[in-house]
Amino acid sequence: MITDKDFSYIRDLVRARCGLVLSDDKHYLVETRLSPLLQSSSLRSIAELVSALRQQEDQLQRQVVELMMTNETYFFRDVVPFDVLHQVAIPTLAASRAASGELAIWSAACSTGQEPYSIALLLREEFQRLSSWKVRILASDISTSVLARARLGRYSQYEISRGLPPHLLKHLQPSSDSWTIRDDVRGMVEFRQINLLSAWDDLPTMDIIFLRNVLIYFSDDDKRRILSRIRQLLRPDGYLFLGGAESTMHLDDHFERMLIDRAGCYRLRGEA
Ligand SMILES: C[S@@+](CC[C@H](N)C(=O)[O-])C[C@H]1O[C@@H](n2cnc3c(N)ncnc32)[C@H](O)[C@@H]1O
Repeated sequence: MITDKDFSYIRDLVRARCGLVLSDDKHYLVETRLSPLLQSSSLRSIAELVSALRQQEDQLQRQVVELMMTNETYFFRDVVPFDVLHQVAIPTLAASRAASGELAIWSAACSTGQEPYSIALLLREEFQRLSSWKVRILASDISTSVLARARLGRYSQYEISRGLPPHLLKHLQPSSDSWTIRDDVRGMVEFRQINLLSAWDDLPTMDIIFLRNVLIYFSDDDKRRILSRIRQLLRPDGYLFLGGAESTMHLDDHFERMLIDRAGCYRLRGEA
């Protein structure tokens, strides 16, 4: 059993390092998520873990924070956002960026990579005409472990069966127990570690930002701060995609939701 004091310590640590807000009824979640760490280390209880964490062991703190995060993701998650990307966002931007031939897309909490690879697969499959363009797909996450998996681009049969349309399997190399994204598609995505709460001032302006299923874990103040920085980064006619349970409403009035059911697609007010 975790004591209230140890729970508060872990809650404050996680909040400070990644923004995740754990409500007071999440004792069980902390116990469940941290139990693999206890099993794989010499620490025998959460109390011992917390006293080790208090020694400021950065590596251990990072492990705890990573275990507390939800990394759930799958290919073409929720379908509709990718339909809007396919039918509206990319064709519109392809027309308005024809002179420069450049497009910048950011998957800002990419987990194990299914989201940016879905974007890359869509481009490869449906927008051959942009193959001579300079298309940059930047994918980032705070977590070292999910980024390592994302870079590998290797997925189990179960992960493939979650959302990847069968006709896209040709872009993956099969092996006995997994599928690996082929190099030409993998090479379209550039992975980088970025904590959304820390500095990311060196990023270029973006045409499309996927910020899906991550704001939901943050406090309203952090959501506001992040949305305001997203606003600085997004080109005036760009597109922002949020998760199905997320919204800019009551957080940032500069964004306007596109009237497409369940797309979670936003544009800056006053833009075409
Ligand atoms: C639920 S997954 C969402 C993945 C993907 N965007 C999707 O919708 O399928 C949330 C991801 O946010 C990442 N995350 C949590 N806090 C973060 C932070 N402060 N900065 C960057 N990424 C963060 C987690 O590591 C996790 O991989």
